[in-house]
Amino acid sequence: MVRYVYCTASTLDGFLADDADGLEWLLTVPGAEGAGAFATFLDSVGTLVMGSTTFDWVYRHERLNENPERWHAAYAERPAFVFSSREVAPVAGADIRHLRGPVSSHLAEFEAAAAGRDVWIVGGGDLAGQFADIGRLDRIIVTYAPALLGSGRPLLPRRLDHTRLRVEDAAMDGPFAQVTLSVSP
Ligand SMILES: NC(=O)c1ccc[n+]([C@@H]2O[C@H](COP(=O)([O-])OP(=O)(O)OC[C@H]3O[C@@H](n4cnc5c(N)ncnc54)[C@H](OP(=O)(O)O)[C@@H]3O)[C@@H](O)[C@H]2O)c1
Repeated sequence: MVRYVYCTASTLDGFLADDADGLEWLLTVPGAEGAGAFATFLDSVGTLVMGSTTFDWVYRHERLNENPERWHAAYAERPAFVFSSREVAPVAGADIRHLRGPVSSHLAEFEAAAAGRDVWIVGGGDLAGQFADIGRLDRIIVTYAPALLGSGRPLLPRRLDHTRLRVEDAAMDGPFAQVTLSVSP
């Protein structure tokens, strides 16, 4: 059974990015390169799903128009899906598929692409919420950075409580704290 896993970094006050979509609060944490849980997580991933703001950030940050090999270095040959109502910039040689509309219409595509491994919901928070809304979010893995922003892009803008969420694990990962929760439908 393919699992849908929302795995992300967050500030302590539950933001994925600042109001300008910046990640300096994450990328500047000393010792971050010593954190190893993400590489282990990626081994379980068959395909990636993300919203266009997240994709655009990666595209700009990695300058994928000039350096498409950086996509391959990060995600290898995994197919990726980008949700947007607009066109999505191509990345040379990468299997990036453009989708729109309800996530429920695309589950068969995700599961075929995952090939028995997990579907990684990269973000943002509302996209993860769209999977939670239809009872197809199985797991949330949050890597908390030592940072507070006060405002920004929300981690998961839905109302979910202990009747759906259960903490399965909490661990140190370098300078971060990683919490894993299971989500019931
Ligand atoms: N901390 C981390 O590890 C982490 C992880 C992920 C993301 N981030 C950052 O957090 C921020 C997330 O931003 P966000 O939550 O605003 O956005 P997002 O989910 O990345 O993108 C939102 C956009 O996705 C498109 N979209 C979403 N659902 C759709 C659907 N069902 N059909 C068609 N299009 C759909 C829409 O794009 P259009 O306007 O193109 O139609 C929407 O405006 C970004 O800055 C990202 O870089 C951080």
